[in-house]
Amino acid sequence: MQEILVIYFTFLNILSITLCEESKTIANCTVLKDDLANAVASFSKCAITYSRPIKFCEQCVNQYIDVLNGYSNMSTSKDEDGFCIDGYVNLDKLEILQTLYDNSNDLWNRANCYKCFQMDNGTLTNVSSVETTTFNDLFNKLSSCINSSEVNVTTVCEKCSKQYDELNKYYIGISNENERIGMCMDIVDVMNGTRAYWSHNCCKFRHKNEIGFIISTVIISFSTILFYILTKVCSQKRTPVILKQTRFAGSFCNNAS
Ligand SMILES: *[C@@H]1O[C@H](CO)[C@@H](O)[C@H](O)[C@H]1NC(C)=O
Ligand SMILES: *[C@@H]1O[C@H](CO)[C@@H](O)[C@H](O)[C@H]1NC(C)=O
Ligand SMILES: *[C@@H]1O[C@H](CO)[C@@H](O)[C@H](O)[C@H]1NC(C)=O
Ligand SMILES: *[C@@H]1O[C@H](CO)[C@@H](O)[C@H](O)[C@H]1NC(C)=O
Ligand SMILES: *[C@@H]1O[C@H](CO)[C@@H](O)[C@H](O)[C@H]1NC(C)=O
Ligand SMILES: *[C@@H]1O[C@H](CO)[C@@H](O)[C@H](O)[C@H]1NC(C)=O
Ligand SMILES: *[C@@H]1O[C@H](CO)[C@@H](O)[C@H](O)[C@H]1NC(C)=O
Repeated sequence: MQEILVIYFTFLNILSITLCEESKTIANCTVLKDDLANAVASFSKCAITYSRPIKFCEQCVNQYIDVLNGYSNMSTSKDEDGFCIDGYVNLDKLEILQTLYDNSNDLWNRANCYKCFQMDNGTLTNVSSVETTTFNDLFNKLSSCINSSEVNVTTVCEKCSKQYDELNKYYIGISNENERIGMCMDIVDVMNGTRAYWSHNCCKFRHKNEIGFIISTVIISFSTILFYILTKVCSQKRTPVILKQTRFAGSFCNNAS
């Protein structure tokens, strides 16, 4: 009888322990849902704020990580009714939560933002990738050359072309030209602006070269024409001598003229 009681109480004990442990891991799904809602809201606000000039990836990475964590928290946490996420997805055709979450991912991935950051064991971190830091270094070198006091609009192309070429070369190396957005969008946008600035300011520079090219072309063409004219004039002077030698040709020429 005593043994049965001991077994019975042990069983009760184990049961209460497991119940207690389970109640510890029970999440408040309302709180988690609010966390995700706030994360998506801050991410959207951040994206619009940094849409022009594009600093979206750099400025919104923490907000994006919050969205990912919020969603994964809802997917892994349970309350009495089951996983928190199950109360919000696959219940209707509208799929509000899933749509907004997918849109966040889609925006992030279309901008190739992940290329701006390091991954740690498959998870996104907010630490800049090597490509990003190298590109920013080269861009800062070009900027400080353009900003420096000895450089003005007329000399910028000569003085800063080394820095520009280095930046441009590095960019071509890290970006996939087959894609419409071949690198992290922040970087694509900076490079696009830099190239526009460069071709706008250095067109005058190229113009000088073109003028030189045109002048030398004209001179060469002119001397070629001059050569033929001179050849013709000289040969015409000699023609009478030849005509005297061949009467037939001479009479033929006279008849023809
Ligand atoms: C979840 O948290 C909210 C706010 O903190 C609270 O009002 C609500 O009663 C909680 N729900 C449960 C099931 O604990
Ligand atoms: C999940 O939510 C809980 C409760 O709000 C929070 O303490 C925890 O830090 C969250 N975990 C992640 C990975 O966001
Ligand atoms: C990487 O992730 C796997 C599973 O996700 C884990 O087992 C491993 O310990 C992690 N490694 C590091 C270095 O964090
Ligand atoms: C990166 O994320 C950590 C938390 O994961 C945060 O403490 C840190 O301030 C963030 N760094 C930047 C530059 O945002
Ligand atoms: C160059 O000047 C521009 C505008 O005057 C400024 O925004 C930029 O930060 C400067 N760059 C450097 C590297 O000093
Ligand atoms: C630019 O600088 C060069 C020499 O540094 C000077 O000869 C030229 O006049 C300057 N041009 C302008 C537009 O300031
Ligand atoms: C580069 O800038 C031009 C003009 O602002 C724009 O039309 C073009 O779409 C931009 N390219 C990319 C890849 O953003």
